[in-house]
Amino acid sequence: MMGKLKLAVFFSGGGSTLQNLIEHIHSGSLNAEILWTLSSRTGIAGIERAEEAGVPAIIVPRKDFDSHQSFSEKINDHLADHPVDLIVLAGFMSLYHYPPEYNRRVVNIHPALIPAFCGLGMYGHHVHDAVIESGVKVTGSTVHFADNEYDRGPIILQEAIPVLDDDTPETVAERVQELERKLYPAAIQLISEDRLWIDGNRVKFKSP
Ligand code: GAR
Repeated sequence: MMGKLKLAVFFSGGGSTLQNLIEHIHSGSLNAEILWTLSSRTGIAGIERAEEAGVPAIIVPRKDFDSHQSFSEKINDHLADHPVDLIVLAGFMSLYHYPPEYNRRVVNIHPALIPAFCGLGMYGHHVHDAVIESGVKVTGSTVHFADNEYDRGPIILQEAIPVLDDDTPETVAERVQELERKLYPAAIQLISEDRLWIDGNRVKFKSP
């Protein structure tokens, strides 16, 4: 059996994505361990969730830095001393530039079908508001390798759900979040099993 994939999980909010990963690790459906987490804000629920799970939470407030470069450097100093196999962005709302050796070792989840409804300012309820407003018939969730830009990079898993006539941003958000709880651990498990390879911008699957 392959060893556990060593993760760092970065968040900026409630940490429900982090909590879901912790639960999948505990139940054995995700062969990984979270070595540390990082919050870009103080006083948010994600920090408590990490601490309750016995995982260190490093706090690097984005507001203390005047550029994403200096913010990223601070994070990368910590990363150099505490290396991991994979950085998992879990509702991380600040632009972060990872060091070159982490290329294709940073993943993100976005609550829509990228390249639609993503990018700067497109997070949380803003995404679902825009989906309802636009009249699209499908939305969904995307897990992708992060590309040093918001919500960009080769797509690992992507799944659609219908947008129904009586949907509101809240009901769409609920069904997308349900999908996210399945999709993110599944994508990370594929990485832990070394089942992926990247061909240009396309992620392909090796046979088991
Ligand atoms: C998740 O729905 C995730 O897809 C989204 O933020 C939420 C985090 O929830 N990410 C983005 O919008 C990235 N652009 P959480 O803070 O409760 O884990």
